[in-house]
Amino acid sequence: MIESSLQATPVLVCGGAGYIGSHMCKQLAHAGYLPVTFDNLSTGHRWAVQWGPLVEGDLLDTHALRDAFSRWSFAAVMHFAALSQVGQSMAEPERYFRNNVTGTLNLLEAMQAAGVQALVFSSTAAVYGNPASVPISEDQAQQPINPYGWSKLMAERMIAEQCRAHELRAACLRYFNAAGADPEGQTGEAHEPETHLIPNMLRAATTTDGEVTVFGNDYPTSDGTCVRDYVHVDDLCRAHLLALEHARRAGGFHVFNLGSGQGYSVAEVLAQARALCNGRPAARYAPRRAGDPAVLVASARRAQQVLGWQPRYGLGDMLRTALAWHTAQADRAAN
Ligand code: UFG
Repeated sequence: MIESSLQATPVLVCGGAGYIGSHMCKQLAHAGYLPVTFDNLSTGHRWAVQWGPLVEGDLLDTHALRDAFSRWSFAAVMHFAALSQVGQSMAEPERYFRNNVTGTLNLLEAMQAAGVQALVFSSTAAVYGNPASVPISEDQAQQPINPYGWSKLMAERMIAEQCRAHELRAACLRYFNAAGADPEGQTGEAHEPETHLIPNMLRAATTTDGEVTVFGNDYPTSDGTCVRDYVHVDDLCRAHLLALEHARRAGGFHVFNLGSGQGYSVAEVLAQARALCNGRPAARYAPRRAGDPAVLVASARRAQQVLGWQPRYGLGDMLRTALAWHTAQADRAAN
């Protein structure tokens, strides 16, 4: 593996030790690239870096960045490194702007200095805020309702301007709700604290007396709980490879939504989790969580038409792979 990776084309993966970044490194390695992870390990994990070297560094450290660009001749950059908790961003907006906006600016400047001209950027459905209508297409108004969404939208804007002024070729991918784990069990989601619905549900389902908290059952949806568009992390990563090829071929700046186009309410996800986990977990109903839009469902037509991308995994696969990952982690922790 080391022999062949010496021949492989290096790609810089900022945030490659994180949930989505580590799945991306696996796919890049399988596609014949050498994924070089640049990560400060603030939320990522050393164990998640399995498919190429790790450079432990921070995007706010311009020297560390410049050093990484001098050690490898990168064909492209994939940028996942960001703080991503909506609630935390409301409490500490300055941290989000420094980390997500300044960090991205430093990266863009380092890329420009090194002459690296292809970028895939991890963006979010949070740029749309409370959408005027669903499904949400890329042209819909971008009106974030929290600093996290603003930080991603500001980063997108900076990337667009670099494309215009300096011939950068870039794709910004607006993810809806990433879920699931590597079907071979080599990596998966491991946030601390965990805020996402599916891992919280599975944790509760596999813990004695565990119960999941459902935030809000008075939304204007069919069963009163929030509706989201879940997409398997492996499908997301496959879209990155397609988007990279597209941006390099077509040039310029591109934006794609990544979702399935199918919404599930929290109650529906809970029912599917219970079908998989012998009727567990129990649920406790709590008031709405601040900043949660009632319904977020993607129109992923552009990704389908331009990239030829379509999700291969459904919600059941996401729950199944996440459960296998979660169970293996819990067993490891117990031994
Ligand atoms: N939820 C619960 N209980 C939990 C966790 C979540 O009921 O323990 C609910 C939430 O209120 C929401 C839904 O489940 O209605 C999904 O919540 P997640 O936290 O799993 O995901 P979000 O939709 O809040 O967040 C995702 C991304 C963010 C992004 C956001 C855009 O993870 O990065 O979409 O709105 F900003």
